[in-house]
Amino acid sequence: MKNNPVVPYILILAFGIGLIFFMSLQGADNKKEIAAEHEGGGETTTETTDAEADGSALVQSCIGCHGGDLTGSMGPNLHGLDEAHIVEVLTKGIEGTPMQPNMKTEEEAKAIAEYISTLE
Ligand code: HEC
Repeated sequence: MKNNPVVPYILILAFGIGLIFFMSLQGADNKKEIAAEHEGGGETTTETTDAEADGSALVQSCIGCHGGDLTGSMGPNLHGLDEAHIVEVLTKGIEGTPMQPNMKTEEEAKAIAEYISTLE
C-alpha cells in the first residue's frame, strides 16, 4: 500500500461515508424533534380550532362586564341561568343593551352556556 496513488481517494471515500452516516444520524434526531413538536403543538391546535369551542376560554370576553367569576358587576349574575336562555341572549342579543345580536356563534354560545351551567 506504500505510495499507492489510490490511498488518498480511499481516505476521502471513507471520510465521505463517515459524513453521510453522521448526517443521517442527525436527520433521525431532527425527525424525533419534529415529531415531538407535533405532539406538543397538539394543544395549541385545540385552542385555535373552532371545531370544539371551549366555554371556559370563551367566557374570558364576558368577565369585563359580568365579573371575574361571572356573578355580576356591570352586567348581571350569569350563574343559575337557563342554558337555552344564555344561547338566545348570545345569538339574538337583548335590544338596547350591550348584549348585541350575534355576539357568538350558535356553537360558541352552546359551549359557553354549558360551561356556565357547571359553575356553582
Ligand atoms: C359590554 C359589556 C358586556 C359584555 C362584554 C357581555 N355582557 Fe352580557 N350583559 C351585559 C349587560 C349590561 C346585561 C344586562 C342587559 C339587560 O339590561 O337586560 C347583560 C346580560 C346578559 C345576559 C342575560 C342575563 C339575564 O339575566 O337574562 C346573559 C345570559 C349574558 N349577558 C351573557 C353574556 C356572556 C356569556 C358574555 C360573554 C360572551 C357577555 N354576556 C358579555 C353586558 C355585557
